[in-house]
Amino acid sequence: MVSTDVLTLTLDDDEVCFQKGETLYEVAQRHQKEVPTLCYDPRLEPFGACRLCVVEVEGMRIPVASCTAQAEPGMVVQTRSENIEQHRKVLLEMVASENRELDVDPLHGYASQELTTLLDRYEARTGRFAGQLSGQSKDDGNPFLLRDYDNCISCYRCVRVCAEQEGDDAISVMNRGFETQIVTEFDGTLKDSSCTFCGQCVQTCPTGALGDKKALRAKDVPEELEKTRSVCPYCGVGCSVDLLSKGDQLVGILPAMDGPANEGALCVKGQFAFDFVQHPDRLDTPLIRGTDGDLHEASWEEALDKVAEGFRKVVEKYGRHSVYGVASGRTPTEADYMMQKFIRVGFGSNYIDNCSRA
Ligand code: SF4
Ligand code: SF4
Ligand code: FES
Repeated sequence: MVSTDVLTLTLDDDEVCFQKGETLYEVAQRHQKEVPTLCYDPRLEPFGACRLCVVEVEGMRIPVASCTAQAEPGMVVQTRSENIEQHRKVLLEMVASENRELDVDPLHGYASQELTTLLDRYEARTGRFAGQLSGQSKDDGNPFLLRDYDNCISCYRCVRVCAEQEGDDAISVMNRGFETQIVTEFDGTLKDSSCTFCGQCVQTCPTGALGDKKALRAKDVPEELEKTRSVCPYCGVGCSVDLLSKGDQLVGILPAMDGPANEGALCVKGQFAFDFVQHPDRLDTPLIRGTDGDLHEASWEEALDKVAEGFRKVVEKYGRHSVYGVASGRTPTEADYMMQKFIRVGFGSNYIDNCSRA
């Protein structure tokens, strides 16, 4: 049962309401406070690794990580005090000292600009701290995922999204401190692991350490990168996607984090299998097999007449129930409607189904 008690706390000098179980970060977000994060992904359990989301809470000796701290009645919280902003800047400078490449192409993935954007926002210097660098890059020959751990900041979003969203545990963390390394089981290749190549680790990585190899093929294409909201054509789930294009070329796919059916998740097909769209072997005209056994280009009228003739012969010989329609899961609802009309009205049969099951 939902509690009707009104819970309040003070947030940047304003009294605000919150619900039991909310974290300080969630409350702050709801009230449009700009609290920076790096290890946070709203789809995942809070982790508290980067400490960038710290806020001041009256009575607490040190700043607290707002993404893991539960909101409590009567708390007095400051999200943007001078001290806190300075604290965040130093943290960012420490994080950046581990990261070698800050000019990250957005084709790397959905969240790949997060660190760079924060460094710009805080005017954080990147060469302030010098220390040992962690993470070794892995070119394991897989066709989809760039694994450039030179840029890893050990936020573990990739490991957590794999476990919590994909239920896969294909990757994990080895060693600690500067020796920290994201690895597969027994440090093998992704292809030999339980990885399903869903791409979720790529899309949540905030530094571009993980990247979409297929999208990055278009890195040097000069046209501007554009996004177009669409629906994945592969099955009946209807995952929302943002198509990435340069000029008239489809160059990549981003999962839509606000997609009602997928909330940022995709499978390997939806994420990476888009080459068919511009493939030179793709049919762009009907083909009819001639008496010579070869396929010949034909007009749509010729092709449709040929199909109708074939159906007519089958029904005349074997009856109306000899035809069974299976609508494609890749077609829109209107086309599926036409398909069932075609079978029910055209043939007088109820033998109609679809493959819209994931
Ligand atoms: S690879 Fe990316 S997501 Fe994974 S721990 Fe490193 S920075 Fe975080
Ligand atoms: S691609 Fe998917 S299954 Fe593979 S490691 Fe990344 S999140 Fe896990
Ligand atoms: S976002 Fe809260 S600790 Fe990283």
